[in-house]
Amino acid sequence: MKEQLEQLAKDILVALDGVNTLAALETFEIERLGRKGEFNALLKGLGALAPEERAAVGARANVLKQEITAVVAAKRAVLESASLGALAETDRIDVTVPGTRPPEGHLHLTSQAISEITDIFRRIGFTRVRHPEVEWDWYAFEALNMPGDHPARDEWETFFMDAPVHSTLGKMVLTPHTSNGQIREMEKRELPIRMINISKTYRRQIDVSHVPMFHQFEGLLVDRDVSVTHLKGVLDYFARTFFGADRKTRLRPFHFRFTEPSFEVDISCGICGGTGKLSDGAKCRLCKQGWLELGGAGMVHPNVLRAGKIDPEKWGAFAFGWGVERTMMMKAGVQIDDIRELYRSDFRFLGQF
Ligand code: DAH
Repeated sequence: MKEQLEQLAKDILVALDGVNTLAALETFEIERLGRKGEFNALLKGLGALAPEERAAVGARANVLKQEITAVVAAKRAVLESASLGALAETDRIDVTVPGTRPPEGHLHLTSQAISEITDIFRRIGFTRVRHPEVEWDWYAFEALNMPGDHPARDEWETFFMDAPVHSTLGKMVLTPHTSNGQIREMEKRELPIRMINISKTYRRQIDVSHVPMFHQFEGLLVDRDVSVTHLKGVLDYFARTFFGADRKTRLRPFHFRFTEPSFEVDISCGICGGTGKLSDGAKCRLCKQGWLELGGAGMVHPNVLRAGKIDPEKWGAFAFGWGVERTMMMKAGVQIDDIRELYRSDFRFLGQF
């Protein structure tokens, strides 16, 4: 029996040599060394031996089993590390390779300007409001001191809607300016007012500096004792904050039906510093005389306050209204020489900003 045991141990070790995978090793252990395995089956014969022989063979059997178990453990370690290595090879992740970024969008240039303008006015207490783009004649013209047959209306060349006419508010129009928001804001009856109305506006026009759909921002302040000085202060604050600390505004007398007095607001040119001349004495090509035109402003006409049911004897007001795109295009560094580019939806153009 001793020889049988030695032979079996030898066989087992030889066979173990040919085991090459962890799964095969598992089966091997069960079949050969497990409780019902070959080795144990042989040891069942121990009982039939004489007592002293039984002790000697039993002791030898234990030694052989320990040897085999140690070889199996070593084999397992080798196979495990080999399989991890293979996994590392096939599933290798090189963490140093730069990642692939999904394409990242950004806000349209006009939306960026709207946020910036909103924020600048918010800091001095003006609340952003929204009023209809499809508007009644009353709000867009009539209440702004422009009666039905007044020639001043021609300047706004409005798109009228093919819709039923309202008995008191008149026709429906795509609003040609954000000044409609003045009356709508006054109607809320929450005085004093500091609003900034930003919205789409529409006019029959298209060339390098005009598009039929564009944006305006309209400021309105209604309070006690309001003067032109306050208006100028607000405009200067905006110019400094939006364009840069060295920029100034200038008010030029003008005529609007809804303000009295009325002004055109100019801003000092960023290229020549408001002089109209470059350092070499040549004429500034951008502005020619030192100033660039921004938009309209003025002290709100008493008739407009009355239309908004505000007593002009008790309250004063100033207002201003400018094009968002135009203002943004005057910002240093923007350098867009055709406003239509903004709305061609060409990513090669828009992606640059
Ligand atoms: N609504 C005028 C326009 O679109 C601009 C304007 C002028 C707005 C004077 C005002 C203002 O609030 O006071 O041309």
